[in-house]
This record gives sequence, structure tokens and C-alpha cells, in this order.
Amino acid sequence: MNAPDEIIRREIAERGVLSFARFMELALYCPNSGYYEMKKDSPGRRGDFYTSVSAGELFGQLLAFQFAGWLGEVNSLNLQPLGAAKRSEDGATLNLIEAGAHDGQLARDILTWLQSARPKLFGQIEYCIVEPSARRREWQNETLKNFAPRVHWFADLENMSRVTRHSSLCGIIFSNELLDAMPVHRFGWDAAKKLWFEWGVALEGEKFVWAKIQTPDAKPRTPDPALGDVLPDGYTIETCPAAENWWREAATILERGKLMAIDYGLINDELFSPGRMRGTLRAYFRHHATDDLLANVGEQDLTAHVNFSAIQSVGEACGLKTEAFSTQVQFLTKIVEKIFKNPELFGEWGAKQTRQFQTLTHPEHLGRAFRVLTQSR
Ligand SMILES: C[S@@+](CC[C@H](N)C(=O)[O-])C[C@H]1O[C@@H](n2cnc3c(N)ncnc32)[C@H](O)[C@@H]1O
Repeated sequence: MNAPDEIIRREIAERGVLSFARFMELALYCPNSGYYEMKKDSPGRRGDFYTSVSAGELFGQLLAFQFAGWLGEVNSLNLQPLGAAKRSEDGATLNLIEAGAHDGQLARDILTWLQSARPKLFGQIEYCIVEPSARRREWQNETLKNFAPRVHWFADLENMSRVTRHSSLCGIIFSNELLDAMPVHRFGWDAAKKLWFEWGVALEGEKFVWAKIQTPDAKPRTPDPALGDVLPDGYTIETCPAAENWWREAATILERGKLMAIDYGLINDELFSPGRMRGTLRAYFRHHATDDLLANVGEQDLTAHVNFSAIQSVGEACGLKTEAFSTQVQFLTKIVEKIFKNPELFGEWGAKQTRQFQTLTHPEHLGRAFRVLTQSR
């Protein structure tokens, strides 16, 4: 088994300065030894970061309540909802597709709620998990063993289309903290030359160090060309073609339904702001943000804010309609307003649910930094 830092060293020796995106890809996803292969407990109190799922089962239950409503809409369009075992002639299916399911906890919270609160719908849906890591698929399988016949796993969206022999799908494709875990390119602004250069990774002795790639393959788009006159030297920004490509692929296979991402992220105007001189790329090691992005390779999480303007444009270019873009507080509060109007449709709401809701919506915690983009076809 090769540790990610060994592979990175070898690639630098063979090719020279490596893009940060490649460094991040290997550090996080190197088969059997990358961060996401080794850290089963990463989200949650014991790990390096805390997600909405670690706040308790309410997050999954609220999503399930919302999904049940959306799936009802798709259903009423005369598309036959069918499970894997019985597909219609024209190949239409009704699916709940979660991408990047970590240890399967969110899927378990969603399916548990649907099973008890919407048994009829539960009997109709097919839950698909798109997860590239074979090891993670095993963990998810273990968590979801009680739902075995309802859940299907795919390594990527293309594999899902191929295996199910459906080039298009009806239902909901969603993710929580997927796009922020995709490899980013890192750029710096050269104010004298009025040019972006890319930050890559080189070796100095045994240590990984930052090195400039003067002629990057792709550069960031500055939303307003006049910004080039005022951007300070060294202004740093990330781009994530992997996230944009993923969204494009998901949008393309979605025949009818919703595509939704929950993630911490920003829009263009917020990305270019004096307070973000150093960009949004962060490393988390044992629950603490660390400055050294190139240290602890494979041991620390690397993540950057999602550029939601870019993601939204990609979806719209694929013909999707943007239904809503809001903070997690706004998104979850709307769901809870619906629940409070018809409490019998949700189930128990007591002190525990209120506590979890406060954690999920606290502006200084998960509430404001997290955004929700929903697009539809
Ligand atoms: C930060 S974790 C997600 C956290 C989890 N959704 C939750 O709510 O607790 C990122 C997940 O995305 C997966 N992943 C990475 N790239 C992916 C891709 N291209 N498609 C689907 N999943 C991916 C990782 O293996 C990991 O399971």
C-alpha cells in the first residue's frame, strides 16, 4: 500500500510541480490510504469536522419530509415510480440519489423516517448511493443493512446510468458536503502583470512547499474585468472544475426532478472580497483548522468553499431552473414552518428536536455558512 505522500513525491519527481488539485486528490482519495479512505469517524465529535448529520437524526428527517413532498410532485406528473425490480417500459424511475454518503448515517436517518412516516412512498422509491470509495461503500452497506433491498451503490454517476441502463432519471439527486470535498485548483493574482498564476506543490528536501505554475491550463474568471485593477498582489482564490463537472453530469442525467446541494459556500461577489485575501482553502486536523495545507498528507481534511455562482450557472446551462438558493437556516426553517402547520405529517417534535434544530440553524455554527442550492427540471 502506497501512502499518498509517497505517490505525490513520485509524481513530482516524474513531472515537476504538481497542481494543488492533484495533491488534494491524492491526499484525500488515494485508494486505501487517502484521508477519506482511512477516516471512518471523521465527521462527528471524534473526528476532524462536525456536519449537520452529526447534530442528530433531525437533519435527515427534515430532508426526508421535504423529499417526500418533492417526490409527490414528480409522481403526479404521470411518471411511474418504480423500484429496481420492476421498471417501466420507457425506463422511467423514481429515485432518491445521495452522492458522497460518508458512513451512511444520513441515508439511514432519511430511510428510517420515510419507512415510518410515508410507508407507501417508501415502498416505491429506490435509494441510490453514488460513492467512489469501495471502503466507504462497505461502511455504508453495514450501516444500511436493514434497508438492503432498497439501496443500490454506484461508484459514479456514469456507472449508475450504465448499470441501470437509464440515461436519464426522475427523482432527486442530492448531497451534503460533497462539493466542498472535491479537489480545487489554487490561484494567486500577480498585480504587476495583471495575471493569475496557479499555486502548485514542489519538494524542498523532504518537505512539500508551494511553487508557482506560471502557465496554468485554466484560469479563474474574474466576475468583473475592472476587478483586475484593484485586486491586491497575491490575492488568492480557488476554482473547482471537478465540482462543476460533477454538477453538469448530474444535471444531464436528471430527466425530471430536483438537483440539490447543501454545502458551505459563497457566491462570486462574496468570494472576491477584501476579507478573503488568502482564499477559502482550509485544512482540519483533529478538529482544529491548521494553516499548513501541505502537512499531515492523508491525515488531515482539505476543503474549500463551494463557488455557488459557478455551480448555479452550470446547472442553468444544462437547462435546469434555479428554484432556490438560501442559507441552511432559511431552508430548514421553511420546512419546519410546513411541519408546524400540519404536525401530524411529521411525527414527534419535542425538546430533543428543538435542540437539534437550534444546532442546525445557529448562525455561528451550521446555519449561515451552509447554503442550499436547489435546481429542477
Ligand atoms: C465530507 S464527506 C460527506 C459527508 C456526508 N455527506 C455527511 O453528510 O455526513 C464527502 C464524501 O464524498 C465522497 N465523494 C468524493 N468524491 C465524490 C464523487 N465524485 N462522487 C460521489 N461521492 C464523492 C467521499 O468519499 C465522502 O464519502
